[in-house]
Amino acid sequence: MAPIDPHQPGRIETIASGLIVPDAAVSRSVRRILVVNAKGGCGKTTIATNLASYYAARRAHAALLDYDPQGSSMQWLASRAEGHFPIHGVAAFRKPTMGMTRSWQMRLPAETERLILDAPAGIHGMPLIDLVREADTIIVPVLPSPIDIHAASHFIKDLLLVAKVRARSIRVGVVANRVRKNTRVFLSLQRFLDTLNIPFVAYLRDTQNYVQSSEEGLGVCEWQAQKIRQDRAQWEKLASWIEGEDQAPAP
Ligand SMILES: Nc1ncnc2c1ncn2[C@@H]1O[C@H](COP(=O)(O)OP(=O)(O)OP(=O)(O)O)[C@@H](O)[C@H]1O
Ligand SMILES: [Mg+2]
Repeated sequence: MAPIDPHQPGRIETIASGLIVPDAAVSRSVRRILVVNAKGGCGKTTIATNLASYYAARRAHAALLDYDPQGSSMQWLASRAEGHFPIHGVAAFRKPTMGMTRSWQMRLPAETERLILDAPAGIHGMPLIDLVREADTIIVPVLPSPIDIHAASHFIKDLLLVAKVRARSIRVGVVANRVRKNTRVFLSLQRFLDTLNIPFVAYLRDTQNYVQSSEEGLGVCEWQAQKIRQDRAQWEKLASWIEGEDQAPAP
């Protein structure tokens, strides 16, 4: 198969009708989920694409916004075979071409229900502030190595400073990714998160299912049911946290 060039406009961007600019969509209770961690390779794209796939498996209209110039989410989407529930993609890392406004570039299908933002590695400062402004829910993937956990602690501190300057509150949750059984290495991160009142919202297994399903532009929740039995519960848990189903109803 010829390599996919994410910089070439493909079917993702050819949809020319029935689209609206994000502001209009966002005003109507569209949940906006940012997957972010400055550390590279921790699973941002895997989680962003699998989340889009999770919603697609439930016939919910998701849009995947790729802010990473590597274009990995858009490559994933481009390899998605016909016949699967559609996911709308926006190559948000691209600068609008001459004569095109940013709003026009970022327009979304009117039926969009969930917005998933895949952040690039190394993000900090103003670009991080700008991305956080676009989100109401933030997922921080962390790998179970001391170096990754250390970096994640710093990143979460930065993130909270950014979030603090904003008027409205944002929910932040950590996903422990590529976890093998008996991972004691997370204990120190757990203690740190407890002091900040940030939950571990899911533990994702280290499995080739993520690699294999992504080759077809699918996520594990659209993958062979038997293979993902162990993973399903974690995705349900993550989605339920995102949807706020874990929270007690207001009195
Ligand atoms: N739970 C998992 N089990 C097995 N492989 C995984 C898992 N999560 C991620 N991977 C693999 O790890 C690699 C890095 O993951 P991914 O691209 O999602 O990270 P990223 O944070 O988006 O990276 P970058 O910072 O470069 O954007 C990929 O090859 C992916 O398939
Ligand atoms: Mg990525």
